[in-house]
Amino acid sequence: MKKEKDFNTLCVHNAQEFSHDHTGAISTPIYQSATFVHPNVGSSTGYDYSRLQNPTREQLETLICNLEGGQDALAFSSGMAAITTVFQLFKPGDHIVTSLDLYGGSHRLFDYLSSHYNLHFTYVDTTDASSVASSITSNTKAIYVETPSNPMMHITDLQAMSTLAKQHELLFIVDNTFLTPYFQKPFLFGANIIVHSGTKFLSGHNDTLSGFIVVDSIQLSEQLRYLIKTVGSGLSPFDSWLMIRGIKTLAIRMREQEKNALQLAKWLKEHPKINKVFYAGLPDHPGYAIMKKQASGFGSMISFECANASIAQYILNHTSTIHYAESLGGVETLITYPMLQTHADIPEEERNKKGINDCLLRLSVGIESIDDLIHEFDTILKEAY
Ligand SMILES: Cc1ncc(COP(=O)(O)O)c(C=O)c1O
Repeated sequence: MKKEKDFNTLCVHNAQEFSHDHTGAISTPIYQSATFVHPNVGSSTGYDYSRLQNPTREQLETLICNLEGGQDALAFSSGMAAITTVFQLFKPGDHIVTSLDLYGGSHRLFDYLSSHYNLHFTYVDTTDASSVASSITSNTKAIYVETPSNPMMHITDLQAMSTLAKQHELLFIVDNTFLTPYFQKPFLFGANIIVHSGTKFLSGHNDTLSGFIVVDSIQLSEQLRYLIKTVGSGLSPFDSWLMIRGIKTLAIRMREQEKNALQLAKWLKEHPKINKVFYAGLPDHPGYAIMKKQASGFGSMISFECANASIAQYILNHTSTIHYAESLGGVETLITYPMLQTHADIPEEERNKKGINDCLLRLSVGIESIDDLIHEFDTILKEAY
């Protein structure tokens, strides 16, 4: 019997398997061509113009589609380009229920869509299925969640959300950026659309922007392919190649980063200058049991609240191996001040209510030696006040 290839093997070989190149190149060729010759009138090689389709991008899309277990995947020039395209599926007057805690850029997009296109969004605590249920109206068309959420690491029960979505004939959309299909496969729990910032763990090296939409039906695929062709936000051939290269090491990066994150989260939790640690891999995290049920790992995103704002700022001003920079998911450990960076556009009062205050830092743990990472925090925190 033919064995289905394991996830780790797909990461390394899947793009090459679908390669159209006959030279035997191990590395997927970059088809740096805007357009393609028609063999004769009315026929096509399958590629006409790179805004519609490009062989390198197609190989990346097949790879992502197979890793998530979907029907089709589309590669975009950024995560926000992908998410914006998903929301072009809706019409003025439609209502979407979404998580209270979300990446700031998604929040900004939703605010823009409400004020300019009359789409309505209700932000609810999606960790509580009954709050979601009571927010659904006759105009609701979708539930949109991040789990773990950015930056507070709230965990939403995917099965509970998809049951509600099915009952009310809604689309269930999941941003799977933080865990990637290596740790979490939302289609197994009834999601209809998965979005990614491919810029993060999928790329893994902080060198490429990209985004993905993966769908569970041909109907959604056709609607979204019409949009990517119309809007022209597809990923370039070179960036597609960088993504294919990055994904080859996805499995080992995810494992190593998670191992480091767990040790660091435990260490930070014991530190007297740190008030709270938000990491779904700590057994006292409220979402721990749900994570155990729906994901095979906890990932490597940690947020933590320092005892006061000057300690938070002291850390940001004194890191050296750890870089104070926006973004996440790469091999380099990055530390972010959500209040001033990723979530700066959210009004202060609303931000504070969510816990995104001047003491909160977000950490994306990389693959450096854990001893070096802990040593750096230890040294800085000894001096911080
Ligand atoms: C969870 C999440 N979704 C989407 C995005 C947007 O992705 P991009 O920056 O690639 O546009 C981000 C960016 O940080 C994110 O953290």
